[in-house]
Amino acid sequence: MVSQRVKEISYAIREIAAVANNVAKSGKKIYHLNIGDPVIYDFNTPEYISQALADASFNGKNFYVDSLGALELREELSKTLKKSYNINVNADDILATSGVTEAIFFIIATLLENKNEILIPGPSYPLYINYAKFFDGIPVEYELDELNDWEPNIEDLRNKINDKTKAILICSPNNPTGVMYSEKMLKEIINIAGEYNLPILSDEIYDQIIYEKPFSSPAALSNDVPVIGLNGFSKSHLATGWRLGYMYYHDPENKLEDLKTGIAKLARARLSASSVAQYAAIEILKNPGTHTKEMVNKLKERRDYSYNRLRKIEGITCVKPNGAFYLFPKLDFEEFTKWKDDKDFAIDLLKTTGICGVYGSGFGDYGTNHVRFTFLPKIEILEEVYNLLENFLIKAH
Ligand SMILES: Cc1ncc(COP(=O)(O)O)c(C=O)c1O
Repeated sequence: MVSQRVKEISYAIREIAAVANNVAKSGKKIYHLNIGDPVIYDFNTPEYISQALADASFNGKNFYVDSLGALELREELSKTLKKSYNINVNADDILATSGVTEAIFFIIATLLENKNEILIPGPSYPLYINYAKFFDGIPVEYELDELNDWEPNIEDLRNKINDKTKAILICSPNNPTGVMYSEKMLKEIINIAGEYNLPILSDEIYDQIIYEKPFSSPAALSNDVPVIGLNGFSKSHLATGWRLGYMYYHDPENKLEDLKTGIAKLARARLSASSVAQYAAIEILKNPGTHTKEMVNKLKERRDYSYNRLRKIEGITCVKPNGAFYLFPKLDFEEFTKWKDDKDFAIDLLKTTGICGVYGSGFGDYGTNHVRFTFLPKIEILEEVYNLLENFLIKAH
């Protein structure tokens, strides 16, 4: 009944949640450190944003909009890209999507077939792997080097390019490592893409969730290499459930005409992204508010707390994240012989303590021996979590 391509989909972030639901049935308190959704923690969608969504519906914006997205939204996004990153993208080169998720789906569906390849960071956000395989492509992971603060291993990236390669994907700030690549590294990747005539796909969903350094826009760093930027309203504007994102083409030499035409065709086949969310998003762009900054301030404290607790635990090492809201510690399984791998560890941790993290191998081969914890919960909760984790690991020595 079920196609092989669907059987092969795996999404560890949600799969561990299913195990957590079973554990919860026994009455155990669950600490959800698995899902990157600020709205389910104490980051509420600001009232003016909820109001904008209601207003959009009351003002009659309940129809199918243009498949590329409402023109007013795309014009406003064009102004925002200019203002934030000084890049010139006109409204026709922007497409509103049902989250970055749909944008990734569109691009990969249009780019890949017959075992063509896409270079993705490893460890990887699972969606890239799933969609690449779903469309009969091959996701090829280039190494993010943990010993070099998770920066891409540029030689590994270069060595993995061949005549089947169709694009290089970057995700900075990164999920799951939480690290933002340096500007120097981004320039090197752009140069390599130029050398091999490949477009860059840049997942920028965490561009505003950054702690120390400013965000470097790959499109702003590129003169002629096409960059397809992906972003949305889920994280920075606390609207994960609205399912609204967008993609933009920074393509000064018109190298992406075919791809753009293909993606537009695919977009028409699914009618449109949510109309009310799009009209409400115009209001957010015109009046970005203070919620993102406030969220980042709170998160910084939670990151510091979590990082300081983690690094004191024997058998764990962790790179300090400077973006997004994840920590990706490594477990020394030579010390912790009790567990056979990261999945075994994550499930035992969940059953014993109620702490629900995501096993690292769910983020591809480079994620093995790790676990991903979000630091979205309040400090009081994080304190309980790290006390439990510390005890759990002390007993394992
Ligand atoms: C790197 C990355 N890209 C994309 C998404 C999905 O974003 P959206 O809600 O816009 O579909 C996520 C969600 O966690 C993510 O971490």
